[in-house]
Amino acid sequence: MPKLYIEEYTRSLSGKPVFIACREGILRNHFHDILADIKFLNRQGILTTFFHNMSNRFSNQKHFKEIAKRLPETKIVKVLPDIDFYNFVLDYSERVFKIIFLERKFLIDQNGEKINAINTQLARQSFCEYGELIGNINFKDVLQRICQKIDTGSYDRVHILPAGKHAIKHELFTIEGSGTLIANNFEEQFVPIETREEIEIVTGILNMYKHEKFLKPRNKTYIKKNQEHFYVTKIDGIIVGCVEKRELNAETVEIGALAISTKFRNQRVGVFMATSFMHTMIHEGYRRFVSLTNNPKLEKLYRRLGFERKDDKAYHERRKQSPGVNMYIKEL
Ligand SMILES: CC(C)(COP(=O)(O)OP(=O)(O)OC[C@H]1O[C@@H](n2cnc3c(N)ncnc32)[C@H](O)[C@@H]1OP(=O)(O)O)[C@@H](O)C(=O)NCCC(=O)NCCS
Repeated sequence: MPKLYIEEYTRSLSGKPVFIACREGILRNHFHDILADIKFLNRQGILTTFFHNMSNRFSNQKHFKEIAKRLPETKIVKVLPDIDFYNFVLDYSERVFKIIFLERKFLIDQNGEKINAINTQLARQSFCEYGELIGNINFKDVLQRICQKIDTGSYDRVHILPAGKHAIKHELFTIEGSGTLIANNFEEQFVPIETREEIEIVTGILNMYKHEKFLKPRNKTYIKKNQEHFYVTKIDGIIVGCVEKRELNAETVEIGALAISTKFRNQRVGVFMATSFMHTMIHEGYRRFVSLTNNPKLEKLYRRLGFERKDDKAYHERRKQSPGVNMYIKEL
């Protein structure tokens, strides 16, 4: 069960309009779970509109009653069966912060792996290169329309989630998410870590990678104690990555514990964090940057940012703490 960060995430979602859209077959299969999730959003002060296309037949009447009873704060929009469900939702003329489509599956890449977040350019490229972004082939046209709508500014954030227990809750209130987010304008902010909840999230992000061996473990007590050395990147006001400042001498600072939540990996957030960190440190008077890593992705990233792999005797003491780990250095 992934860890929920209710307080922190609610702050950026409360009072915002969110559409949840689910077709009849999927809604029938996951009826109670979906209602429970929407109820949960309402409790967090999120303004929900629920679209479904359940037909008017007699056996559905009890469902309609239950929806009305359990979700009094939600605006319910019943889409007529002869109308294209997706077009109706996508063209609905109301301002919305996020649209969540509850489907059978999230989007997948060419290896069949879950895509956590993707921008429309990459999504379009992927249709051309390997066609199958999603298990449900019929969803491809819908995806084209979603990208078009995002590109023309109709809305910013569309989530494709596999319907199921806590699907929406996990997508919006955990670090990992449960489905795929399609969005372009990720507005990143690089800021020092501030609150108790932020320490919790950073602990969660670093914990996610403790089995990958690249990062030295840092627990909550360590982060709390060294709070003034931790910086984070936020997207939509939510922490998606962290970095630790370690001063090696008056001119040199180490980039430590660089980690991006799985949801936002491969979106250039790592590049953003490393460059933002360096700008901040230059402002503080540092002239040299050091980082120790054996993570090939990070090694590639550092080379692209002008770092050189070398062992400088000046950092002999630091070197001894991480034997066998490659050292990267960049001088201004
Ligand atoms: C390593 C890590 C921080 C990278 O962050 P990321 O946000 O996933 O990576 P980014 O998308 O920003 O950048 C990596 C890619 O951008 C490329 N890149 C670097 N600079 C670039 C630039 N200026 N413009 C375009 N691309 C660039 C890199 O070469 C790399 O390419 P690849 O996707 O082909 O491999 C992240 O994967 C992570 O958190 N890993 C787990 C924790 C960890 O191991 N941390 C290291 C501890 S030592």
